[in-house]
Amino acid sequence: MKRIIACLIFCCLLSFLMIPVLAESSDPSAFLSILTEGKTNWYFTGDPVNDSDLHTILEAGVNTASAINEQPWVITVITDSEIIAQLADTTSSAKAPVMILVSVTSSNEMKILDAGLAVQSMQIAARALGYATKIETAPARAVRNDHSGEWAAKLGIPADKAARAALFIGHADGTADAVTSASARNDFDSVVHFVTGK
Ligand SMILES: Cc1cc2nc3c(=O)[nH]c(=O)nc-3n(C[C@H](O)[C@H](O)[C@H](O)COP(=O)(O)O)c2cc1C
Repeated sequence: MKRIIACLIFCCLLSFLMIPVLAESSDPSAFLSILTEGKTNWYFTGDPVNDSDLHTILEAGVNTASAINEQPWVITVITDSEIIAQLADTTSSAKAPVMILVSVTSSNEMKILDAGLAVQSMQIAARALGYATKIETAPARAVRNDHSGEWAAKLGIPADKAARAALFIGHADGTADAVTSASARNDFDSVVHFVTGK
């Protein structure tokens, strides 16, 4: 009997302690701030991305919606620092420990949009997990425009797919401030137009 009472007290205490945690996790503001305040990181430390986090990020990519659910992508995860250094936009210095390349079938605009959505889903997941990220198209262009097919072969990208976008994931290098050095956004009212009924 004493054990049951002790167990009940323990459970009540645990539930009481969990209330603020649950309340916090149902608060959308932290997630929404990733969308409105998240900034591109240009510099990364050499610290690796946790395997389980990487899996979660990739799940977000795999589960992205696509036009007529075609899921036209292959997702290539590159952790080879030499390859990352070779493919990262030469005008940028985003050499993160992980580079994810999304390749889609043909150059149909729907599939390019699908690639963008998959990259954005993974970016949001990575940022939600506390990682620094940067989207780049230059590495994808380098792979896609390599008509010798050497890059595609090296990365195992099927012949019917073309690389469209890259996502760098890592830990922010604290010496660079991604917020104050971020690009400005256009004024809300100059971008958003409402069409209302009478
Ligand atoms: C679709 C897309 C393609 C991009 N391609 C490149 C690229 O090839 N090279 C590069 O250095 N940055 C690239 N960027 C990064 C953008 O320049 C950066 O996200 C933008 O300036 C906003 O920066 P902020 O988030 O710091 O304000 C790309 C971003 C997006 C969303």
